[in-house]
Amino acid sequence: MDKIVINGGVSLKGRVRVSGAKNSALPILASTILGGGECMISNVPRVVDVVTMGKLLGILGAKVTQEASRVVIKADVINSTQAPYELVKTMRASILVLGPLLARWGQATVSLPGGCAIGSRPVNMHLAGLTKLGAEVWVEHGYIHARAKRLTGAAIYCDVPTVTGTENLMMAASLAQGTTVIENAAKEPEIVDLADFLTKRGARIIGAGTDMITIEGVRELRGSDHEVIPDRIEAGTYLVAGAITRGSISVDRCRPDHLEPVIAKLRETGADIRVEKESVHLNAGASGRPDGVDIRTMPFPGFPTDMQAQMAALMAVARGTSIITETVFESRFMHVEELRRMGADIRVEGNRLMITGCERLTGAPVMASDLRASAGLILAGLAAEGTTEVLRVYHLDRGYEDIEDKLRGLGAVIDRRAA
Ligand code: EPU
Repeated sequence: MDKIVINGGVSLKGRVRVSGAKNSALPILASTILGGGECMISNVPRVVDVVTMGKLLGILGAKVTQEASRVVIKADVINSTQAPYELVKTMRASILVLGPLLARWGQATVSLPGGCAIGSRPVNMHLAGLTKLGAEVWVEHGYIHARAKRLTGAAIYCDVPTVTGTENLMMAASLAQGTTVIENAAKEPEIVDLADFLTKRGARIIGAGTDMITIEGVRELRGSDHEVIPDRIEAGTYLVAGAITRGSISVDRCRPDHLEPVIAKLRETGADIRVEKESVHLNAGASGRPDGVDIRTMPFPGFPTDMQAQMAALMAVARGTSIITETVFESRFMHVEELRRMGADIRVEGNRLMITGCERLTGAPVMASDLRASAGLILAGLAAEGTTEVLRVYHLDRGYEDIEDKLRGLGAVIDRRAA
């Protein structure tokens, strides 16, 4: 198993290019099995979760080929409608094949995702929504079973806006008979990207990106090409890398409009940020130590929970006390104990972090527990005095393409070694 070794204290400088969004690529790849024909998906990040999704689609019978950041999929026939436990346990997003399998092939058996390091993550709304669309859904022996001759459009209200839930229902409803309205839908840019791809394939969807999505079902979808949107969380992570090292960096090939909540908070810390069409330039060199800011994670367009650990690292070296309130995954705080090992002064009170910034963190061996927690620890390591070793980096590899190379390109002293 690899570890990442960082010698901290270098101010990052230069330009970094953002990869395609993992959380957009995953539903888009899953949705390819909704129809026949060839789908060529470009700007797909080369990360382990994408490889896992490719494996899953292959097990189901789709023909999947990947060359660099382009994935070509043909799903004219399917051999299996079962997503096995062995894959689902390594990637919860496997649940995204549930809606497409059921809608196109009339049945699906998907392992029920189990516990997760970032808190309880039920899928009750996925199941309730599919039931509303007329499916028979039950859980047995650890598997979700769903069956329906043809789904029928329905009015679905989500108790909380769920990202993959909205995606599953939007995909399923695309092939249902009649009209589906999803209310209190998630509004994340990744939902819009999926809707754009489905629309190119012949689906009829309006309102993606708002809290009410209307889908008029069609008989079948055709193949299409699509370019995945840039990863807003990867972009945000590099912006924080610039801020925490008091550097001056440009994040290129990103969508600044998807980064507004992150840019707003970084500006509040004192960083100077300039936005262009596809780039964000951050200069935190002149402003000295960042100011502490309060943050509340919220569904889009609120501040993303997937940037909470990275901001906790930044606040650990900020001036004054900051409060971070996590409202999406209320116990997503596994990074806190590890940041404390680096000298951070953080108190957990319910779903809140009370962080009193210190002058300098000190490097230490730390353990990654999930994808974004790993990113938070890497950022802390970049700012810390001395050497930080981040263990269990397989979490990081699930969602960040070439992170050491990209950080090295900005001047960081960072290496991957066998642990
Ligand atoms: N929820 C329910 N019932 C459901 C579904 C969700 O109560 O049936 C609750 C969850 O417990 C949570 C809230 O709704 O409190 C939102 O969860 P959501 O369903 O939106 O999360 P998700 O779809 O499982 C996606 C991303 C996550 C990201 C969240 C929130 C993908 C593949 N995953 O997860 O990404 O944190 O939305 O934005 O899109 C990551 O990339 O590191 C990551 C964890």
